Amino acid sequence: MAGGLAWREAGAGQPLLLLHGFPFDSRQWEPQLSALPPGWRGIAPDLRGFGKSESGGVALTMERHARDVLDLLDLLGLGPAVVCGLSMGGYCALALHRLDAARVRALVLCDTRAEPDSDEARRQRAGQAAAVRERGPGELVGPMLRRLLAPVTHETHPEVVAAVAEMMNDTPPDTLVAALHALAARPDARPRLAAIRVPTLVLGGELDEITPPAVLRDLAGAIPEASLRLLPGAGHVSNLEAPAAFNAELHAFLAGLRDPA
Ligand code: MLT
Repeated sequence: MAGGLAWREAGAGQPLLLLHGFPFDSRQWEPQLSALPPGWRGIAPDLRGFGKSESGGVALTMERHARDVLDLLDLLGLGPAVVCGLSMGGYCALALHRLDAARVRALVLCDTRAEPDSDEARRQRAGQAAAVRERGPGELVGPMLRRLLAPVTHETHPEVVAAVAEMMNDTPPDTLVAALHALAARPDARPRLAAIRVPTLVLGGELDEITPPAVLRDLAGAIPEASLRLLPGAGHVSNLEAPAAFNAELHAFLAGLRDPA
């Protein structure tokens, strides 16, 4: 724990930063941390307010999360990192690139999007935040869990469903509410996509209902050096639903990166 931020890590060598989605924590990245290719150091923070990290009483924004992560890279004395983020983690990865592109060696954007919330999505988030405040986290967790994972995951992988539910249920209600507001307020990242000059992998579940393949195709199409890979049978939490296929794509991408100067 440093600066109020907790993280888990594995391996040694070139830095790979792993940014979790909402409302999860660094446990999300266990299948990646436990199977890192040689020569890579995986670092998965609990974003502010999530997991074991403190909220510090500060309003959450994607930019705040990105600044926290930059501070963590400083603290660990790390140079440019490959930044991998899933969904909310992807919003944070794009915010981090906007704040300090020199710290980003490459991007892996998983099950995420560049466009901001629609008015309808903002209204829904406000309703969810009010429901969590008035009636507790179950109001968000139950309905959200159904949409997060592909039907086949619900049917055949109860351990994945349980792991995702556990992270969601462990997230403090105050963080759920603050994060819903932060997600609704996130800026439009589309105007800067053409300026991303680092190798980028856009990766996601073929059965993702929240950021469907068409959204990922648009994202990859707008970033000059991006490639797109879709994982069969996986929903929105593709790294947990199809860990072997996810790792194969991630490892192939890492292996193809030029050595840092
Ligand atoms: C996530 O998985 O991080 C969320 O689906 C992000 C969102 O609700 O926009």
